[in-house]
Amino acid sequence: MNRLLFIHLFLLVALFVTNAVNAAVPKKRPTPTRFDVTCQVNGTDVEKIKARLNPDPVVAGKNVTFSISGLLSRDIAANGTVLIGFQDVVGFNIGDGASAPVPPTKAENVFSVDATLEAPTVLPTQYFIEVIVVNPSNPPDPQKDIVGCVGAAVGFDDGPVGGLNGSPNKIVASNSFLIL
Ligand SMILES: *[C@@H]1O[C@H](CO)[C@@H](O)[C@H](O)[C@H]1NC(C)=O
Ligand SMILES: *[C@@H]1O[C@H](CO)[C@@H](O)[C@H](O)[C@H]1NC(C)=O
Ligand SMILES: *[C@@H]1O[C@H](CO)[C@@H](O)[C@H](O)[C@H]1NC(C)=O
Repeated sequence: MNRLLFIHLFLLVALFVTNAVNAAVPKKRPTPTRFDVTCQVNGTDVEKIKARLNPDPVVAGKNVTFSISGLLSRDIAANGTVLIGFQDVVGFNIGDGASAPVPPTKAENVFSVDATLEAPTVLPTQYFIEVIVVNPSNPPDPQKDIVGCVGAAVGFDDGPVGGLNGSPNKIVASNSFLIL
């Protein structure tokens, strides 16, 4: 895989607002890290995939293996790629993220891939992890290219990490992504 893709996702600051309202007795979200956040591109939900970490939780500066799997309604192309990124609460990337090839997989078949990367050397107390399966096109078209995604909100109080009006756990992707 000689194509390194890197995606810039931007989170809505609105993500955090509902916690203050909902969390009478804040509880930290427990480990294992829960990959339960839906991603959106241009207002459209992206099909959810699954991810597990080892070790869990992520240790700053140490290698972490993501075991990623799922069953999607669209094919994963021959150049399908998984992108992994860390972001802070205002949507800035933490570290460089990573990418790895995904085995080409027909729609409605289970795919599975392990990807190991070195976690960012510094992690804030609250951050997001995104795992995104992309069929890269040239030029990139996130709405079309992103076929699966899931996010985790780490270090937040338990309860919805909702968007506006308590809409359930969502990470919102901007339209920009960059091929390096
Ligand atoms: C985003 O969604 C709007 C409304 O559904 C659509 O008109 C627009 O073309 C979409 N943008 C992209 C980049 O796909
Ligand atoms: C992470 O794994 C890579 C490849 O196995 C290795 O070169 C690197 O030293 C490891 N990093 C840490 C922090 O263990
Ligand atoms: C990935 O493969 C598709 C289909 O062959 C092709 O159209 C696309 O340009 C390739 N993506 C990149 C980034 O080369």
